[in-house]
Amino acid sequence: MQIRPAAALTGALIGMSALLLPTATAQATGRTTHHHTVTVAHRGASAYAPENTLAAVDAADDLGIDWVENDVQRTRDGELIVMHDTTLSRTTDVEQVFPDRAPWKISDFTLDEIEKLDAGSWFGPEFQGEAVPTLEEYMDRVSDNHQKLLLELKAPELYPGIERQTLRELRREGWLDHRHKRRLIVQSFNADAMRTVHRLRPDVKTGFLGTPAVADLPEYAEFSDQINPSYTTIDADYVSAVRSVDGAHGKPLEVYTWTVNDGPKAVSVAGMGVNGIITNKPDVIRDALDDAS
Ligand code: G3P
Ligand code: CA
Repeated sequence: MQIRPAAALTGALIGMSALLLPTATAQATGRTTHHHTVTVAHRGASAYAPENTLAAVDAADDLGIDWVENDVQRTRDGELIVMHDTTLSRTTDVEQVFPDRAPWKISDFTLDEIEKLDAGSWFGPEFQGEAVPTLEEYMDRVSDNHQKLLLELKAPELYPGIERQTLRELRREGWLDHRHKRRLIVQSFNADAMRTVHRLRPDVKTGFLGTPAVADLPEYAEFSDQINPSYTTIDADYVSAVRSVDGAHGKPLEVYTWTVNDGPKAVSVAGMGVNGIITNKPDVIRDALDDAS
């Protein structure tokens, strides 16, 4: 595992403070909490580093956050990359580098072309030169950091076969081995895609993104272990209804809600009984949950 300067400094400081302040150390590392609500860094710690880059994965790690979320799509030449939007414009300098290629869809660009782009400067000059990661590069970094991955298949309807391709890549990288499987959840807004993932690899933990009607939950539970809704769409009754249905692996459906960036709201949704909170500011949410527990 590589040691980044920031992580090394954090480690040294934590080591020193452990002699003096064991409770604060537990909070500072984030690895020790006294509640059971998982904090997931949305697109990495995307309030502090450009979303869906390796810098955002590292920013989460530096905060002591185990779980990161990403978005997976496919290039014109069939390579899997990590990016949220289906176009390259918002989070790269593609309009400067390839001015004649509007509307700059990911699926119109090869990986070679995408590797020429700067995916960091839009967020801040200190991130200039940050690349759009391939899924393989992204998973390697998550592995190196001993983190866990909530992988979203983004707009899979645009990329026929991306479910099988992604699973193949995950398997090749060892992420489907028995001992690593607990470090992975695959999710999507697209129910057909999640049905396909579950059919191809019934052993993989899966989530459906959305807020299905309570009456439809048993149908979603056939292929999902989680129902992951926007926090704006839920209340305690809905969370309780979801949790009362057994998911695809015979355990109560879990709820990971998004995207909660302030502490009081996090405490409120945790009180509804959600299992996880997906956030751009994982340190804020983790600390709010710790303080409330
Ligand atoms: O993981 C939940 C969240 O990522 C879903 O919304 O648009 O940020 O992918 P979006
Ligand atoms: Ca996402």
